[in-house]
Amino acid sequence: MTIPIRRLSGALGAEILEFDPAKTLDASIVAELREIWLEHSILLFRDVDWTPAQHIAFTRHFGKLHIMPRIGTEVPVNLKQYPEIFVVSNVESNGKPVGIKRAGWGWHSDGEDKRIPNMGSMLYGVETPKVGGETSFASTYKAYEALSKSTKALIKGKRARFSRVDMHQINYPNLPPLTETEKLERPDVWHPIVRTHPETLRNCLYIGRWAVEIEDMPQEEGKKLIKDLTNHISNANFTYTHKWSPGDVVLWDNRCTQHCAIPYDDSLESRHMLRTTLEGDIPFYLASDGQRIESALV
Ligand code: OGA
Ligand code: MN
Repeated sequence: MTIPIRRLSGALGAEILEFDPAKTLDASIVAELREIWLEHSILLFRDVDWTPAQHIAFTRHFGKLHIMPRIGTEVPVNLKQYPEIFVVSNVESNGKPVGIKRAGWGWHSDGEDKRIPNMGSMLYGVETPKVGGETSFASTYKAYEALSKSTKALIKGKRARFSRVDMHQINYPNLPPLTETEKLERPDVWHPIVRTHPETLRNCLYIGRWAVEIEDMPQEEGKKLIKDLTNHISNANFTYTHKWSPGDVVLWDNRCTQHCAIPYDDSLESRHMLRTTLEGDIPFYLASDGQRIESALV
């Protein structure tokens, strides 16, 4: 079977047409979907109506599921009955948040602050606002390829330090600070800035809002380079912005994309999203001369 698709932008993304991911799939369809995913980096399914169990079952076709740890002591992160489902929501019940508010307001890929970041994430729009609440996605293949020769030479084989501890309060000012135990659980990690995708073997730019420092570079210079590279990634030539409707499901590849929830006035309407997360592997950079650089804990 050839699954019909529609490209979402010149940069990345494919909408999967005439397809219901809530249905049982056979192995050949799963293989075809993976091929489309590897080529286009993000997949969009529309008008999906499924249960958490079906969401989990469909995600499993792409790999092992990751269970998100709690962030901050008082915030619920996952559905009680389905710990595989992470809740991104501004909804409150009895005055308490039902999920993480303002998740991902800034360019990042999921789990970039961990030694083993997440391979992919699948976000399902349950309640989506009429105004605002979009998510932008960037192809970090395209962003890498468009860098100047001198920038490519500057970052080749270099790693950046990603730090949950340094950046938690900056990226999540609305969440409680990390406890001492949580700090110990989230040690800093060095990741190669040019990352080789383990399946396509294409190189991409691996940086984001948890990056704080660049190897062998004075701190201020490193910070400026991180900022410049992050700005570069968000260039319209490399991005697609998704306006959510209820029933949309987006699966993105965290190994070769970044995403950003676009900040908006979230006091006006509900935005309730459910996310499954795929387990990943240790990032590496494989140079054409055979040099291999891997992520390492600090
Ligand atoms: C996420 C995330 C962005 C959004 O779920 O990983 O960054 O737009 N979400 O909700
Ligand atoms: Mn995210």
